[in-house]
Amino acid sequence: MKPVQKIAVLTSGGDAPGMNAAIRAVVRKGIFHGLKVYGVFHGYNGLIRGELREMKLGSVADIVHRGGTILKTARCDEMFTEEGQREAAHQLLDKGIDALVVIGGDGSYRGAQTLSKLGINVIGLPGTIDNDIVGTDLTIGFDTAVNTVVDAVSKLRDTATSHERTFLVEVMGRNCGDIALRAGLAIGAESILIPEISFDLKEISEKLLRGYHRGKNHSIIIVAEGAGNIWDISSELQEVSGLDNRVTILGHIQRGGAPSAMDALLGATMGSKAVEVLMEGKFEVMISYSNNQVIERPLEIAFGPKDSFDQKLYDLANELAI
Ligand code: F6P
Repeated sequence: MKPVQKIAVLTSGGDAPGMNAAIRAVVRKGIFHGLKVYGVFHGYNGLIRGELREMKLGSVADIVHRGGTILKTARCDEMFTEEGQREAAHQLLDKGIDALVVIGGDGSYRGAQTLSKLGINVIGLPGTIDNDIVGTDLTIGFDTAVNTVVDAVSKLRDTATSHERTFLVEVMGRNCGDIALRAGLAIGAESILIPEISFDLKEISEKLLRGYHRGKNHSIIIVAEGAGNIWDISSELQEVSGLDNRVTILGHIQRGGAPSAMDALLGATMGSKAVEVLMEGKFEVMISYSNNQVIERPLEIAFGPKDSFDQKLYDLANELAI
């Protein structure tokens, strides 16, 4: 087998804090081992248009602590078409790239899998705040997003207590309630609504009223975006409980900011592992954080059945918020 000499790295899908640390690790580790490393700009869109540039040591200077991605990112419809996929593969083969490291979420992994079928050596790195990739305990960006939510909610609590109100806080997570669950437990939310578990607004209302009658003057309810329409939940809850509430949607603020130490470390160790693995000639793999270790696993695991939901954590959040 021909040894790997030229590699490329791209970020795709939603940006996540720690992606820059991962890019830096891929570039520096690659150069350290004598490889030529190319950055693909603007995700798969840029790949299809051939936006590749060779990265030098200085190209990734002063980025390890920055949020976002210096390579830019995009959601790419063309990667769902056969023509787009063929063009993306052609760009890499034409430039003699031996392997592509894709940093992104499950949609980005799908693109990588398609390229692999077209003869491209690929490695996936989990980069998304949602923590919704099967096969890894953590994704790059998740820890920072949870901390952002905790920080924002502790500010909201000041207003909630001053006005003696209920606040509904929408956090990101279309199909996965991990941000809501972890942040909700960390801040002691009264209720956590997530897509994985159905909820009953009557029960939530009874809990609010029980707290209210024993002197509690405010409540925080964390709602994952995939749990339902927050405005409908708000008006229904108001109707059932008779208690006034306010809605705050944290939105894209959760994707920004400097990475937490955990995410910067994940970026560094996962990026470095990707280069080690591709130098060993192993492809169609994903880098995963499992049992406190950074390991490689077959990429197809990411498309398998969803990892079991952390029911224990959910039950604990409920027990502590009686
Ligand atoms: O996948 C990350 C994520 O932030 C989701 O939590 C959210 O639903 C989605 O991206 C928003 O995507 P966009 O920024 O493209 O609107």
